[in-house]
Amino acid sequence: MKLTARIITTDRTPIFTGSGSLLHVDRVIRSQHLGRDGIFILVDKNTRKHCLPLLLGQSASMTAARILEVDGGEVSKTLQVAEHLWNRMLDEGAGRQSLLVNLGGGVVSDLGGFVASAYKRGIPYLNIPTSLMGQTDAAIGGKTSVNAGTIKNQVGFFYASKGVFIDPLFLETLPENHLRSGFAEIIKCALAGDARLWRRLKNHRLPALLSMPPGHPFFQAMITHAVTIKHQAVVKDYRETGYRKILNFGHTIGHALETWSLGESRQPLLHGEAVAAGMICASYLSKLKAGLPDRDLDDIRTYLAEGFKPYPLGGDEKNALAGLLVHDKKNQQGRSRFTLISRPGIPVINVECDPGEISEAVDFYLQ
Ligand code: GLY
Repeated sequence: MKLTARIITTDRTPIFTGSGSLLHVDRVIRSQHLGRDGIFILVDKNTRKHCLPLLLGQSASMTAARILEVDGGEVSKTLQVAEHLWNRMLDEGAGRQSLLVNLGGGVVSDLGGFVASAYKRGIPYLNIPTSLMGQTDAAIGGKTSVNAGTIKNQVGFFYASKGVFIDPLFLETLPENHLRSGFAEIIKCALAGDARLWRRLKNHRLPALLSMPPGHPFFQAMITHAVTIKHQAVVKDYRETGYRKILNFGHTIGHALETWSLGESRQPLLHGEAVAAGMICASYLSKLKAGLPDRDLDDIRTYLAEGFKPYPLGGDEKNALAGLLVHDKKNQQGRSRFTLISRPGIPVINVECDPGEISEAVDFYLQ
């Protein structure tokens, strides 16, 4: 594969994207004097098997690192698992100058960032995202978290990593449904933040894009474009008091649906699959509340429906969803606030929608 790695930003969290990004890990560690008290790599069972050998092959600094392993999936994003990791690190003599390297998808980077943010009041960490969702969203922007019960991401800090390395090498190891799930975040960045990216995506049907090898230059260009949009939102509004909320497009109903599907275990949804459904609902609300033209609403629904199968929801499920929306952290005083769009790429934040409108949006999704 041709090496195409480029740096997106040189601010305090350098972000590298493209083939060869991993080759920059050692230089970042050296130039920032990281890991003087040892390096720890956080993996899950999958990334230990499939991704760790790839990292060790590209970074000499990692060869002496100690490995911390957790189970894959949301079950690991808990305070108990974080406590277990803190104890492991204490036992292994990790100090304030130790470096934690998060090698995995969104669960590993959220959990690892959280562990790093609190261990000895904060140690440095790097994110090496191995899933497309991690590469386009979770690993960027310094949000760290664990779940509270079944409600996602309720406990955490804003705590920036010392570097993010987004290398297509890892995507080759991903199952197709995880690639598809991650692609939802690219579509989100386009719809919420950049009409030009939306036009680039629409030049191809979603199934055709998803059948490209992830190392394909067009696929890589889509990732880099989405990462740039996300990074710009983070730079404008790191603590999410305003503009960064554009990144929540599709996530209000999406999170509730994801929580519901995981709790019921009837048909668990991946994060991006839930967000795709949430984006169809949010686009309908955008038509109602922000003047999104019918033509754009149709385009968005057709585009997403070609890549994501509909999730069946009956009356009971709709009521349960409404209950879960109350816990969404974007809500204030129990009212649901949405990030909507007035046109693709033109976001409108903090739009209050009432339960009747939300129910109409879910009906539109189910039609
Ligand atoms: N995942 C949304 C954000 O980072 O703000």
